[in-house]
Amino acid sequence: MLHLKRVDLKTEKIDTLIIPVCEDRDIHTDSVLLSLVKQAKDLKEFTGKKDDEIILYNISGSKVDRAIFLGMGKVGKLDAEAFRSIAGKGVKKCITYGISEISISVPDASAVLLEDSVVLESLMEGACLGNHLFDKYKKEKKQKPIRTINFLVKKGTVQQFKHLPFKVATICQGTILARDWVSMPPNDKRPDQFARTISAISRKEGLKVTVFGEKELRQKKFGCFLAVSAGSRSQPRMVVLEHRPKTSRKTIVLVGKGVTFDSGGINLKPSGSLEDMKTDMSGAASVAATLITAAKMNMKQHIIGVLPIVENMPSGDASRPGDIVKSYDGKTVEIGNTDAEGRLILVDAMSWAVKTYKPHTIIDMATLTGACVVALGEKIAGLFSFDDQLAQQLLDSADKTFERCWRLPLPDDYKELLKSDLADIKNISSTRYGGAITGALFIAEFVEGQRWAHIDIAGPSSITKADDYCSAGGTGFGVRLLCDFLEKF
Ligand code: BES
Ligand code: ZN
Ligand code: ZN
Repeated sequence: MLHLKRVDLKTEKIDTLIIPVCEDRDIHTDSVLLSLVKQAKDLKEFTGKKDDEIILYNISGSKVDRAIFLGMGKVGKLDAEAFRSIAGKGVKKCITYGISEISISVPDASAVLLEDSVVLESLMEGACLGNHLFDKYKKEKKQKPIRTINFLVKKGTVQQFKHLPFKVATICQGTILARDWVSMPPNDKRPDQFARTISAISRKEGLKVTVFGEKELRQKKFGCFLAVSAGSRSQPRMVVLEHRPKTSRKTIVLVGKGVTFDSGGINLKPSGSLEDMKTDMSGAASVAATLITAAKMNMKQHIIGVLPIVENMPSGDASRPGDIVKSYDGKTVEIGNTDAEGRLILVDAMSWAVKTYKPHTIIDMATLTGACVVALGEKIAGLFSFDDQLAQQLLDSADKTFERCWRLPLPDDYKELLKSDLADIKNISSTRYGGAITGALFIAEFVEGQRWAHIDIAGPSSITKADDYCSAGGTGFGVRLLCDFLEKF
């Protein structure tokens, strides 16, 4: 679907060409492109300012049928994200026009003061991610994704970056896979179904797949996990995915919260808070999609994905506030609030994974707290770790992929807030403040001594309004971040 191409615009016919333009400087070097841009800028209505756009048809001096000029503003303000956005915007526009093949003119990297690889990779990512539609549940499919997207580059660039289309497409397919899972309605992804879907794709890509059902979870004494599933008629599952290349040094475990619907349980959420709770399995979706992507890319690292999958429902069998349950590692936990269920399923999964695999590093990704959304908004995830190096590595990947994370503290004295009068620990804090931190501190109690990071993605896992390269629904946040991190691990 993505192609790198060198074309002679004087002689080759192009149906649709997207041309990014800056207001203060030429960012292309090809003479035909320069003349096309000049003709667009000669018109009053287009200056190249950010969000400016104009379409010209059959311009003289070229064989381009339709040239879509998209303004990017001032050169000095350009970064990788600006290129993702512009490509996503262009692709979305062409989808609405029903176009099946487009070309994007890739600006000269030195003119935009960035690396060739950054400009190219970002354009490809934006185009690929912007080309995704979630219309599975619509009888009439009004729009179709674009079939072929060509990236027009200079001589030499095609050869130098010939690996890039596959890499970008593979990673973005991972993001899209996670997006689709998150957007899927909760009646179609009850734990057994979701586990089967993940398993089938994972096996196809060569991952080792193990699935624990309720009986095994009971035998293994996953007390906290089972306390969450008790209220649902759907049985829980724990899916374990393993990518094990022939030679690998370090083992990394990724754990993803997989609550396919979070009603809150007996501490039932009010309406208004319930509608989005099908997205509470976003962590599991991103971790599963990352493992699948790692397998497709033959990554060199030994990676384990651990996905506790469950539905949190109220019923006569549901856990109650006040219940005390025993975790996999033997600690007693007082359930202060059945809506703080994510941490309960995570700690059992994580203790099991640490015991089983003795990993070098363990990272969990979870839509854990509304408090994290209050703190950082809907676009930035909370990052927690005692390990500065691990935190920095994740922050670097967050920067690179624009799946933004902000590190929050794990203060020792806040641990007190999780004290229980009767049990070893309580799953909620005694104050209503700092909920993202106390959520993370609860998990920390179960991974003592491990090289661990927790990423709270309650904000960025889904969006209600489409942006430049993502439609409303699941965002697949975390897949590109984790893939970048893993490649450097
Ligand atoms: N799944 C929610 C967190 C959430 C909130 C995700 C908003 C996405 C958007 C989680 O299980 C939850 O309900 N957390 C409670 C914790 C509280 C009871 C300590 C919360 O954040 O209110
Ligand atoms: Zn909850
Ligand atoms: Zn939840």
